[in-house]
Amino acid sequence: MSVAPRAGDGKVTVPGILARKSASSSQPKSKITCLTAYDFPTARLLDQAGVDILLVGDSVGMVVLGYDSTLPVTFEEILHHTRAARRGARRALLVADMPYGSFHVTIEESVRNAVRLIKEGGAEAVKIEGGERRLELIARLVEAEIPVMGHVGLTPQSIHALGGFHVQGKTADAARQLERDARAVESAGAFAVVLESVPSELAARITDKLRIPTIGIGAGSHCDGQVLVLHDLLGLTQGHKPKFARQYADLSGEISRAVTSYCEDVRSGNFPSDAESFRSTNELRDYLRAPALVKQRT
Ligand code: KIV
Repeated sequence: MSVAPRAGDGKVTVPGILARKSASSSQPKSKITCLTAYDFPTARLLDQAGVDILLVGDSVGMVVLGYDSTLPVTFEEILHHTRAARRGARRALLVADMPYGSFHVTIEESVRNAVRLIKEGGAEAVKIEGGERRLELIARLVEAEIPVMGHVGLTPQSIHALGGFHVQGKTADAARQLERDARAVESAGAFAVVLESVPSELAARITDKLRIPTIGIGAGSHCDGQVLVLHDLLGLTQGHKPKFARQYADLSGEISRAVTSYCEDVRSGNFPSDAESFRSTNELRDYLRAPALVKQRT
């Protein structure tokens, strides 16, 4: 069973995110912060640090489950991680990614899956990759009271069709299509849209044209908000790192150092110390001092 988010306390809501689009002199626009979170302790830490949106992204497949792409991630895996993140998220808006295959067969099945993420996972919204071709699906989800975050530009679930992780919208035709995609997502009723790997000027133009907030990742600084994969930010991913993934910490190094020290201490007898061990009671001490019982013959 999921834990319901507490009302009040500055709880981030879907209308609240939409309202962040429009600035006024009394309420200056503040950028929306979004990070991925896949489990209870990190969701709790990010929530306490004031992150606005926690995304249970299908990137979990690559940075936690060890898959080569996001394609193998199953619906049940996303549901499992959404439940865990739900227990840690209080103030932040919790958004669950619809993984590849969970919204590609029929609209009915897709709505049923999204309902499970809300009902069983405790998500407050779902994210769907794709633009124009998701128009009908997004509209049906919104009709079923499920807030939707769109995702256009580089959509990792389309990796085979796109032919690799390339910046999108670089030609005039591609830019026009990307604008159509973003507008379609908005007109279908999405409350926000992720723009991934898009030239900054194009992302700025889309941001200016839309009435819903844009959340950029590799899309320049003009977007209404930014999202990163937490493991990239913390320095927990190995191998290729996208150029937009600014690293704020070196947790891989920290973990290696801590684990190496632990192994050295165990091997040298330096761990555990007396202070880290439990003392005997008088009764136990007497028992341990008494001669051991002679083993009975049968
Ligand atoms: O799965 C994910 O983490 C994402 C973000 C990178 C937007 O889709």
